[in-house]
Amino acid sequence: MTGSTVAVTRPLPDPGVAPLEAAGLRVVANREDRVLAPDELIALVAGADALVCTISDRIDATVLDAAPGLRIVANVAVGFDNVDVALARSRGVEVTTTPDVLTEATADLTWTLLLAAARRLGEGERLVRSGRWEGWAPTQLLGQPVWGRRLGIVGLGAIGRAVARRACAFGMPVAYCNRRRLAPELEAELGVTHLALDDLFATSDVVSLHAPLTAASHHLVDARRLSLMKPTAVLVNTARGPLVDEDALARALDDRRIFAAGLDVFEHEPSVHPALLGRDDVVLAPHLGSATVAARSAMVELCIDNVVEVLAGRPARTPAPG
Ligand code: GLV
Repeated sequence: MTGSTVAVTRPLPDPGVAPLEAAGLRVVANREDRVLAPDELIALVAGADALVCTISDRIDATVLDAAPGLRIVANVAVGFDNVDVALARSRGVEVTTTPDVLTEATADLTWTLLLAAARRLGEGERLVRSGRWEGWAPTQLLGQPVWGRRLGIVGLGAIGRAVARRACAFGMPVAYCNRRRLAPELEAELGVTHLALDDLFATSDVVSLHAPLTAASHHLVDARRLSLMKPTAVLVNTARGPLVDEDALARALDDRRIFAAGLDVFEHEPSVHPALLGRDDVVLAPHLGSATVAARSAMVELCIDNVVEVLAGRPARTPAPG
């Protein structure tokens, strides 16, 4: 393993690349805090034994072709739709992710958006900052109540469950829909009720998305599903942008088919649909789900562990599922 080369596409939070160097690995890193252009990524990865990358890096055939000696792609993320996992594995390249360590941070951010969207916090903050706020008014910025309302969770994996656990504190019954229904004992333990997807959209006061992006989940929230929602409902997405048809969402908000949305992820990051950018009833966050000091450090540590294990010829700690 000593002397192997690890390509790192972006400056990382603590502990950074120091543990890789301490393990005797040679690090070639992009030291600028920006996404590499495809040709820069190819140049960086050429000759590498391991690649540490982020969700902004597309790891496809051209990248894999450029690094025939590659043994691992370690994505600093729990999602991995930016990596062609099947192709990598077919070439003997392991792909790893950073599950669990970011679960609670992402669940917290989900609730941040949920509450902010339901209670019009973004609008209120802008009003105060504008200097145009004239004081308390009986009709000002009336939002939707959260306490006791139904939370519908799409995708009850680790993050979905962490979001569900927090619902208890808000007196919210939780319905869920998942690719595979949970065992009845687990449903009872989590206090969640299974619903078909359309029923979940039709009956929930808040719909929160926690499904991975796959061909099947692309535009899972489309015009038809939005039309099923209550006019008072809030949509929250901290999963992946392409789960939502943003054109359809903007139209649904225009037509007051739903009340508001809280979005941490977008179809074409970092671009945001102009119709959403201009709206007051959408709370927008710049993909902050895992952005706490502790979670990001833990993600880097896990990523590095995976690199070290695989380069040492041992199994990865957290291989991408599938
Ligand atoms: C971030 O989006 C992640 O998948 O960790």
